[in-house]
This record gives sequence, C-alpha cells and structure tokens, in this order.
Amino acid sequence: MTFRSVVIGVGSHLPEAVVTNDDLAQRVDTSDEWIVARTGIHERHVAAVGEKTSDLAIAAARRALTHAGRTAADVDLIVLATATPDLTFPATSARVQAALGVTKGAAFDLHAVCSGFIFALTTADNFLARGQAKTALVIGAETFSRILDWEDRSTCVLFGDGAGAVVLEAHEDGAASGRGIISTFLRTDGRGHDLLYVDGGPSQTGTVGKLRMQGNAVFRQAVEHISEAIVETCARAGVALAEIDWFVPHQANQRILDGVARRLNLDKDRIVSTVALHGNTSAASVPLALDTAVRDGRIKPGDLVLIEALGGGLTWGAALIRM
Ligand code: ACO
Repeated sequence: MTFRSVVIGVGSHLPEAVVTNDDLAQRVDTSDEWIVARTGIHERHVAAVGEKTSDLAIAAARRALTHAGRTAADVDLIVLATATPDLTFPATSARVQAALGVTKGAAFDLHAVCSGFIFALTTADNFLARGQAKTALVIGAETFSRILDWEDRSTCVLFGDGAGAVVLEAHEDGAASGRGIISTFLRTDGRGHDLLYVDGGPSQTGTVGKLRMQGNAVFRQAVEHISEAIVETCARAGVALAEIDWFVPHQANQRILDGVARRLNLDKDRIVSTVALHGNTSAASVPLALDTAVRDGRIKPGDLVLIEALGGGLTWGAALIRM
C-alpha cells in the first residue's frame, strides 16, 4: 500500500530580539534605504546569547504539534533541516527529540542550507509514502547570526534567525480529500559550491567560520533555477501554474521573488512574502512563511500551495501540496 503525506499542522518561532536596518547602520557602512531598495528587508530577529538552534526548533515543533492536535507520542520521525547545528555532533534533532519527549522512530539532521526544508519535506514524504513512518515532524531551524561576518555589509544585512515546522501524517493514497504532498523536485549542482559557503568546518579548518557569498551570481542562479523548479514540479503533477492558490517561496530577497514572478508571469497577490520582517532565515524561511499565511487565514484547507527554495551547494527544489 502507498500513502500520501498530509500536512496536518504548522508552527513557527522567532527569537524575541529584533534588529532593524538602522541598528545595522550603526555597525557597518549601510543604510535603511539601501537595504530596503536592494532586498526588501526592514528587520530581522536575532537569537539571544545562549539561545540555540534547537531551542527555536523545539518551540516551532511544539506549536506545529498543537496545531495538528497530535502529541509527542504520535511522532515516529523527525527530520531537521539546518546549516547551523548546536554542535558538530550529535545531530540537533536528537536534542529536539528528547526535549519534545519523542521516544520512537528516527531523528536526523539534513543539510541543504536555504533549500533544507524542501529537502527535509521530500525525505520525510518518501518515508511516509513507503509506510516506514506514520507521523513526521519536519523542521527548518537556523541561527545564521552565529555565522555572519558582522563587518561585511554585503552579507550581514541579509539574514535572520528563526524556525518553522510542519507535522506530516501518512494517509491512505486516494483518500477522497486529495490532500497531501502531490509532487516534489530536488536538484544539487556542486559546481556552484564556491558561490555561497562558510569558510570554516571541522574537517577543513577546525573552526566554525563565516558566511561568504558572491551575491550577484547567486541572485542570477536563484531566479533561473527557482523558475525551473516551479515549472518542473507542476509538470510532474500535471498542474498548470494558474491553478496554484499560493506560492510560498524561500525568503531570500524581495527582488528574487519579483524576478521569478516576472519570469513566470505569476500573480504577485498569490505570493506570500515575509522577507521584510524576517530577512533570510535559510531553512526556516519556507515553514515560517507557510505558518504566517496559514495563521492569518490566507492559506485555507484544500488550497494548492507551491513551496520552493535555492541555497548553498548550490541546491534547489520545490514541492506542490494540497493543504
Ligand atoms: N549597504 C550599502 N552598500 C552596500 C551594501 C550594504 N549593505 N552591500 C553592498 N553594498 C555596495 C557594494 O559594495 C557595491 O558598491 P560599489 O559599487 O562601490 O562596489 C554596491 O553596493 C553594489 O553591490 P552589488 O553586490 O552589485 O549589489 P546588488 O544589487 O547585487 O545587491 C545583494 C547585493 C543584495 C547581496 C544581491 O546580490 C542579492 O540579494 N543576491 C542574492 C544573494 C542571496 O539572497 N543570498 C542568500 C543565500 S542564497 C538564497 O537564499 C537564494
């Protein structure tokens, strides 16, 4: 028997402290005007001293479980996407599992940087579709503030911290509602390795390192590959772009969102944008935006939603979901 992975709950969590563009202009040679014009970002949340990626993940996961009407006893799989784990090992998901009180199944981290949530959702979907798990928590959680070079104005203004989560439940395929993950698409092209990376790591330098990026090149690749991912994911499902109720993109830069919308002729009113208030929260950005739009009532049960992202690797992908 095959199963369909249905999103039965969403949740998110942001650290309390907010850093505005004016705050950043006190630290580096930048301005609110430049940041808003080039990125659409007005502010971002930043984790407090001692606040870890796992803390954000746990809070988001609890909210998603409550929203789903499920408890830790139901969960038999946790896939946590992060590029900013608490420690080199064990996996941050192990700490999350223990804190939530989940005692069965597997929990592991998955690393695809800003595309991490799409990769994690697709991975969990494959477990559920094959009957290898019944109830999965899929989490994207990041503390990018820890790996930013706060002297580099071209990168430190772009990112924020946060977490988002969904609860997936395996339902028998062909269930009358038609709800669930309909199609997914993942790609990696390692030739883009040096366009966006962190210059530290246990094997290469023995340090944590700081984020480095060729912003212009990443921008061009993002518009091209995200457009490809959207078109391919819809083609696999036999769904026309016009049928999609909501696009929930990775929130990197408003200009990337606008560039993709122009290229594919998407209606901007159907695109969920949270980048102004969250900045780029990497693997957390898609579930954060999804949670925002579900809670404010824009995304309703039965809506057709397309999520997509591009990140370091380069990695990119998309998923089509009937909510
Ligand atoms: N404030 C003021 N000036 C700045 C700042 C800043 N914060 N940052 C850069 N500048 C300057 C540059 O030094 C440069 O000055 P110069 O002309 O004197 O040399 C000038 O602004 C223009 O720099 P560009 O890099 O050409 O600016 P651009 O319009 O490309 O915007 C940006 C830069 C915002 C980084 C853009 O390239 C971008 O968004 N790229 C996508 C990267 C991204 O989103 N990465 C996230 C991870 S991947 C993902 O999530 C999709």
